[in-house]
Amino acid sequence: MKNTLFKAAIESGKILKENFEGSFNIESKDVISNLVTEIDKKSEKKIIEIIKSDFPSHNVLSEEVGAIDKDSDVKWIIDPIDGTINYAHAIPLCCISIGVEKKGEVIMGVVYNPLSGETFFAEKGKGATLNNNKITVSTENEVSKSLLVTGFPYSSDKNPTKQLDVFSKIVSSDIPIRRLGSAALDICWTACGRFDGFWEYNLNPWDVAGGYIILVEAGGKITNFSNSEFNLYEKEILATNGLIHDQVLKIIQSV
Ligand code: IPD
Ligand code: CA
Ligand code: CA
Repeated sequence: MKNTLFKAAIESGKILKENFEGSFNIESKDVISNLVTEIDKKSEKKIIEIIKSDFPSHNVLSEEVGAIDKDSDVKWIIDPIDGTINYAHAIPLCCISIGVEKKGEVIMGVVYNPLSGETFFAEKGKGATLNNNKITVSTENEVSKSLLVTGFPYSSDKNPTKQLDVFSKIVSSDIPIRRLGSAALDICWTACGRFDGFWEYNLNPWDVAGGYIILVEAGGKITNFSNSEFNLYEKEILATNGLIHDQVLKIIQSV
């Protein structure tokens, strides 16, 4: 499965690279700011083609085409471009994210940014890597000295679960915070210690599946906003180095 995962990431990565800064069709989905480009669709087609040719009986869940159910206990969860708005604006902060779920558990994931050449990978029980070098989360244990990252949903509700209030509280506490525009990179950049923590509301399984296993294998902690077990199919994610987890939770829960 690892070979297929890498082949799918590399081949779709070529499509992103070839078309970056080019002209391509861009459409809005449910709301005007939620974009899909011709390149998302081409990337997705290539990834699914590769998976289908190696594992025709496996299930697929992919952002643009949805679920392809073959009644298998393996599911490939695909985001053909995470960070589509960045890609559409020629900002090289985006990636292809693919997670492999077996019997309801993510066992392998890749997050590849072809524009920076960074490949994050993890397999259950075997650690996490960035371009083949082992990665671990940061050792910062004070939220006041941390660098955090977040994102906001496209939905018309501008303040779901008080995300803006949490953001505002963090900014007014002088804690540095970033908003990259790619949840999969946010999680992986937390996994390799660039960020100390990430939270967001309303993500989908394809935004998170690849990064989830990378963060866990890098020694991070991931829960929902009630500190219960994280579930890919639910909407809340808090992913940290583990050491500042309770402190960020406290801020989220305080608003
Ligand atoms: C989006 C990105 C963004 C997050 C959005 C996602 P897309 O995915 O991950 O960082 O804030 O909620 O939908 O649309 O670029 O695949
Ligand atoms: Ca996404
Ligand atoms: Ca996407």
